[in-house]
Amino acid sequence: MDKFLIRGGKALRGKIAISGAKNSALPCLAAALLTPETVILHNVPYVKDLITQRRLLEDLGATVLTPELRTHKITASNIEIFEAPYELVKTMRASVLALGPLLARFGQAKVSLPGGCAIGTRPIDLHLKAFEKLGAVVSLEAGNVVARAPEGGLVGAEIYFEKVTVTGTENVMMAAVLAKGKTKIFNAAREPEIEDLAELLNKMGARIKGAGTETIEIEGVEGLNGAEHTIIPDRIETGTFIIAAAITNGEIEITGCRPDHLHAVIEKLRSAGVEIEELNQSTLLVKCSKNGLVAKDVTTEPHPLFPTDMQAQYMALMTQAEGVSIINETIFENRFMHASELIRMGANIQISGNKAIVRGKTNLAGAPVQASDLRASASLVLAGLCASGETLIDRVYHIDRGYENIVKKLSSVGAKIERITDSVATTA
Ligand code: EPZ
Repeated sequence: MDKFLIRGGKALRGKIAISGAKNSALPCLAAALLTPETVILHNVPYVKDLITQRRLLEDLGATVLTPELRTHKITASNIEIFEAPYELVKTMRASVLALGPLLARFGQAKVSLPGGCAIGTRPIDLHLKAFEKLGAVVSLEAGNVVARAPEGGLVGAEIYFEKVTVTGTENVMMAAVLAKGKTKIFNAAREPEIEDLAELLNKMGARIKGAGTETIEIEGVEGLNGAEHTIIPDRIETGTFIIAAAITNGEIEITGCRPDHLHAVIEKLRSAGVEIEELNQSTLLVKCSKNGLVAKDVTTEPHPLFPTDMQAQYMALMTQAEGVSIINETIFENRFMHASELIRMGANIQISGNKAIVRGKTNLAGAPVQASDLRASASLVLAGLCASGETLIDRVYHIDRGYENIVKKLSSVGAKIERITDSVATTA
């Protein structure tokens, strides 16, 4: 199992380019199942979860060509299987995004019910209720969700999500594009990844309005065509590197990003003393203010407010801020696993229910720590970068799921970080 060895204390300086958004590429790859024609996606991040999603499409019968590492040409013209098996879904919950497209185009889908994961039980009940509203019959058979559309296909309906769900909104959008008549989704998720998926679907001939707002309208069409689309930059990777610059008291120019996708994060970090300058619409210049960081409370909420996927990274930063900050996690029930590892490095954090109380500034000391999930791993990398001494992070397969070339990107701005693949240390 790979590990990262980080020698902290170095101020990071230089330029980092942002990769494509994992959480947009995942539904966009699934959307290619909606048409027999070829869908070409550019700027697909080279991360483990997308390798898994590609394998799922191929297991279903699609062909996926990658003329370049980050370009996927997907042709789902001979889908013979409509099932996402357990061994695949258990490694990546986002496989459930195959449900909507398979149900819409083939009238049937069988996807293993994803188990929980480290950060919570992660049910998909809202996805399934929405499919039923569209006329599908959904049952649970030996741990699999089995969904069947009625004889004449899915029928448009009004769907009200009692909770904001990102992949729920995406799944229903993809089911509704081929349904008969109009579908309205109320209390829809408003993440930029939803808008990116809707843009791809509309390029394919769908008729979607309102993506990015809480009400999305979809006029069903007979069929969809192929299209070409470039995935948006990853806003969480961007936020992670903003914090890397601040926590090491360095200065990083972040290129190929979309500052307009992370206003809440930028505003919160500015209020905590991070100097963030928008050089243009796709470039940020980040450094820490001379007066250091000040503790600021934060509450995670659905977009456009502060994203839960930045909570762990923000907690690492708050260990370096003067004062007490209260971090309120409202989205997932168990997303503080990184706290105990940060405490091992010298952080002063108390957990009380869904609140974490961080008292800073504390000097962090490197230690052997263990990653538990994707964003917790990022939090430990950030802490290791500012800690004195060596930090050895185990189970970094978590971070490989969602950060492309993080060792190479951080090394390029001066970080002392290397990947230890059991015996051999590399900086790739
Ligand atoms: C997406 O997960 C992201 N994953 C997550 O990113 C992100 O943390 C999350 O949205 C919240 O922003 C992808 O896009 C692939 P939800 P998703 O459905 O869609 C509850 C990362 O680090 N809920 O918006 O699974 C759920 O338990 C990952 O990249 C139900 O109760 O999240 C949670 O409390 C981690 N029933 C809340 O809603 C449902 O049917 C939000 O979940 C669905 C969700």
